[in-house]
Amino acid sequence: MSHESASPRQSAAEKYLPARGKRVALCVTGSVAAYKAALLARLLVRAGAEVQVVQSRSSREFVGPATFAGITGRPPLCELFDADTGGELHVELAAESDAVVVMPATADCLARLATGRADDLVTATVLCATGQVIVAPAMHPSMWSHPATQRNVRQLTEDGRVTWVGPVSGEVASGDFGEGRMAEPEAVYGAIIRQLSLDAWQGRRLLISAGPTVEDVDPVRFISNRSTGKMGFALAERAAARGAEVTLVAGPTELPTPFDVTRVDVRSALEMQAALSEAAGPALSGTDALIMCAAVGDYRLEQAHATKLTRGGEGLTLELKENPDIIRALASERGGKRPVLVAFAVETEETELVLRARRKLERKGVDLVVANLARDSFGREHNVAVLVSEASHTALPELPKPAVADHVLDWVLARLVGSAVA
Ligand code: C5P
Repeated sequence: MSHESASPRQSAAEKYLPARGKRVALCVTGSVAAYKAALLARLLVRAGAEVQVVQSRSSREFVGPATFAGITGRPPLCELFDADTGGELHVELAAESDAVVVMPATADCLARLATGRADDLVTATVLCATGQVIVAPAMHPSMWSHPATQRNVRQLTEDGRVTWVGPVSGEVASGDFGEGRMAEPEAVYGAIIRQLSLDAWQGRRLLISAGPTVEDVDPVRFISNRSTGKMGFALAERAAARGAEVTLVAGPTELPTPFDVTRVDVRSALEMQAALSEAAGPALSGTDALIMCAAVGDYRLEQAHATKLTRGGEGLTLELKENPDIIRALASERGGKRPVLVAFAVETEETELVLRARRKLERKGVDLVVANLARDSFGREHNVAVLVSEASHTALPELPKPAVADHVLDWVLARLVGSAVA
C-alpha cells in the first residue's frame, strides 16, 4: 500500500496548469469592457499561459498598458512597428501564438475585420492568424442589432475563421439592457481552453451531483443538511473549463450555474436518483464518470403532510423511511470499469478516516472516495480532503475547493485514460 502525502509547497508546484507553455495573443479594442480583458489575462496567466496583449490605440483610453504589463509580465504592443523584431510584428505574433483572441471587440473592430482591414496591429494580427480567432463582441444593444453590424457578423461567420463568444443579454455600460454585453472573462477563457484542446477532458461526459437534498415534512417544514453545494459546483466549473461535457444535478442551492454546464435542479433524494439515472442512461452508458458529491439525506417521510402540522401539546414523532443509497444502486448497474465512480464521505470524527473511507468504497462499489471532515468542508471556501482508492490514499493539504476539484478530476482522468494511478 503506498501512502502519499502532498505538502502545501509541493502541491503548489504540482498545481495543474491547463495552459502551461501556451502562447495567447490577447487583442483589446476600445470599449469600457476592456477592463475585463485584464481579468482574462489574469486567468490565462494563472493557467500557465504566456500572454501578449495587443492594444488598439483607443483601448488605451480605457485601460493603461501598465495594467496589462503588470499582469502578464510583458508590455502590451500597440503599433505595427512597436517592437524591433527584425521582421514583421503582426506576422510573427500570429505565427507564434497558439490562440488569437479579440476581447472586447467593438462594432468598429468587427467592421474592419469583416472587410479584411489591416491598418493597425490588432487587425493585421487577426488577418495573419491561420486558425480560428476567438472574438468577444461588446457594444450597446443598438449597435449590435444594427443591420450593418449584423451584416459584418454574418460575413465573418461565413468566412469561417471566427469563434464567437457572446455577446450576451444584460446591462451594458450606459445602464441600458439588451444583447451586446460582453461575455464574462470565464466564458472566453473556457473557449480558449476548448479551442486549444488543452486537456484530455475534452469531449468526455461527466455527471456530478451537488448540494443538499430536502425532504418535505409539510408545506412549510423540511429536513435537510448544511451542504451548500460549493464543492460540487467547483467540480463542475473546473471540469467544464477543462473541456468536459458536464451535467450537474443540484439540490436546492443559491449558487449560479457554472459556464457551459447543463444543470438539472432537484429537491428530494428520490428526485436526485431519478435525475441521475436519466442522465447516466442505460447501464450508465451515457457518462464517462460520475462524481457523487451531493449530501443526500438518508431519510424521508413516506408522505409529506398535505397541511401544516399543528401543536398537539404532546410532542411529535415523525416516522422516517430510509432513502435509497443512490451511488450504491448506480454502481450495481455498472458492467465493467466504466464509468469511473467517485463518492464523497463527510465524517465528524478524524480517527480512522481513511479506513472508514475504504470500507465505504467497498460497500458502495466505487473507485474513489473523497473523505473530508464536516468542520473542514461544509459552507467553507476551502477543504481538506483525502483521496482514498482501493490501493492507496493521498492526503491533500488545505486548498481552495476549485484546487481540490482539480486533484479529483486529475485522478479520474488518469483512470479514464488508463495511466497508472493508485
Ligand atoms: O454513506 P454516506 O452517506 O457517508 O456516503 C456518502 C456518499 O454516498 C456520497 O457520495 C453521497 O453522495 C452518497 N449517498 C448516496 N445516497 C444516499 C446517501 C449518500 O448516493 N442516500
